Amino acid sequence: MVKYISRIFINNLLDQVDIVKLIINKIKLKKKGKNFFGICPFHIEKNPSFVVNSEKQLYHCFGCGAHGNIIDFVMNYENLSFLESIKLLSDIFNIPIKNDKKSFLFKKEIKNNIYYQIMFNLSFFYKNYLLKPLGKTALKYLLNRGFSLYIIEYFSIGFSPLYWANKIFHNTKNTEILLNKLKILKLNKSNHNYYDIFYNRIIFPIRNIHGFVVGFGGRVLNNKEPKYLNSSENNIFYKSNELYGLFEIKKENNIIKKIMVVEGYIDVISLFQFNIKYAVAVLGTVITNFHIQKLFNITNKIIYCFDGDKAGIEAQWNSLKKSLPFLIKGKQVHFMILPEGEDPDSLIRKEGKNLFEKRINNTLSFSKFFFKRLFLKSVFSSCEEKTDFVYKALSFIKLIPDNFFQINLIQKLGEKIGILNFLDIYNLLGNKKKKIINNNFKKTTIRRLLSLLIQNPKLIKLVPEFKYFKNSNINGLFFFIKFVNYYKNQHITTTEIVEQYRGTKLNKIIKILITWNHMIPNHQIETFFIYLIKKLKINILENRQDYLISLDRKQGLNNKKKQELWSLNKILIKKKNNLKI
Ligand code: UTP
Ligand code: MN
Repeated sequence: MVKYISRIFINNLLDQVDIVKLIINKIKLKKKGKNFFGICPFHIEKNPSFVVNSEKQLYHCFGCGAHGNIIDFVMNYENLSFLESIKLLSDIFNIPIKNDKKSFLFKKEIKNNIYYQIMFNLSFFYKNYLLKPLGKTALKYLLNRGFSLYIIEYFSIGFSPLYWANKIFHNTKNTEILLNKLKILKLNKSNHNYYDIFYNRIIFPIRNIHGFVVGFGGRVLNNKEPKYLNSSENNIFYKSNELYGLFEIKKENNIIKKIMVVEGYIDVISLFQFNIKYAVAVLGTVITNFHIQKLFNITNKIIYCFDGDKAGIEAQWNSLKKSLPFLIKGKQVHFMILPEGEDPDSLIRKEGKNLFEKRINNTLSFSKFFFKRLFLKSVFSSCEEKTDFVYKALSFIKLIPDNFFQINLIQKLGEKIGILNFLDIYNLLGNKKKKIINNNFKKTTIRRLLSLLIQNPKLIKLVPEFKYFKNSNINGLFFFIKFVNYYKNQHITTTEIVEQYRGTKLNKIIKILITWNHMIPNHQIETFFIYLIKKLKINILENRQDYLISLDRKQGLNNKKKQELWSLNKILIKKKNNLKI
């Protein structure tokens, strides 16, 4: 399984593959000029509105708006994750993936090596103490709770026996790191000794996906608060990135059909001991986008399983909302609601594996949970209330990328509120709305320039350095300059730019800009671009002029500024006269 592929490799791959060659094997395409037309595979249609552009290496459907580069195509058509798609492309086009994982780890390792080493040693130290006399109570506690020695060993569960840690951590460099970076030691202000924050706790080492210990969870042996203490975040440990148990379940399974997300360390271990080797736990936080993406990279089905109390149901709903943008074709989320007062650990011990697995097979599907939760408090007393409700429901459904799933949910929503042809009505309204949005996205000079640049990255050489831009308030100018500076010295292609913005906030805008048709013949693109640059220069100068004029009104100008305004006026007149295509 590929775990990491460098951006350099992805760009390299994109340079060598051919989107037409790939798609023509799957869909009948007809050549018209530089474009290839066919029936769109992403929605049902009679007439071809699906276009593949061999020059830009992009596809676009005028019917459903599907759009992207070769990686998007594979992801959506083959229903694969990002990394799986790259792997498939590298197979099809025979471009071997170099051992990027190693170089990635290597680079990272050099930087963080000492942290990993210290964490590993510490974990080893804790683990050993569990089996020594000082760890006796802790071990007894774990055995009493039903954990086997095998499982204790497998998860490297340990115990922190020493309050004062000076003796073991005598190496000053390591002490410094443990104190300031990993924050596992703390300084006692009264006697200037270090102590271990996990003192007298059972230790659950948290491993990252590569198997390195990056943090610890520590549980008390009694009823003291807080019950759990987690490592604080540092260079190698971000709670919102890690899932407890992920390394272990990956080690156990080549293909993971489903992954259960639970709340506690103990739940993961308990389920594992009962041979349910597909549970991971969030680390005392809410589930994040990063978690969901990570899970969907290795499985098609996530089952959220939180405690059956009010907070648990709330966490389920939040997980549902977070998951919406990840629901591409073939990816599913399910919900398992436990009886009140139970968690997976307590339940599986009561019921045994078989009954518990029955529950897993009877989870609520996305749509069941979605509508159940939505209609919980929805008795409509007026049209207004019903309208609000419909908008609310649609605002969730709209975030789902899988179009057919969206359609089915909208249809169901219609049934639920008693409008039978709701989908047709929605489409009518929806189309109107889409147009308005597109019209609203005004074609400003900056956006036109960006769009041309993305479509023809070679033009970047024609962008000059701008004077005065720092104080200007032209929308998007800063982004434009940042964009230009970033790509200036690279041989970048359109599809690589698209790739770079995948998953970022700007993704949507970049995709709109790619589809803009500037209605200019190819040989005049450069001239038009230069014209726009000149126009932008004038905008910037005018902006400066406006600023100086308003400054003059407010507080008057000194001689230098007066001179500047005077020469600005002259330059602007000249530039405006020269401005033509
Ligand atoms: P629970 O309180 O449900 O604990 O917290 P648990 O996993 O069932 O453990 P046992 O069975 O009582 O031993 C669930 C998770 O919430 C986080 C931990 O990650 C824990 O595993 N948590 C809980 C904290 O981070 N701090 C706390 O004080 C409590
Ligand atoms: Mn529990």
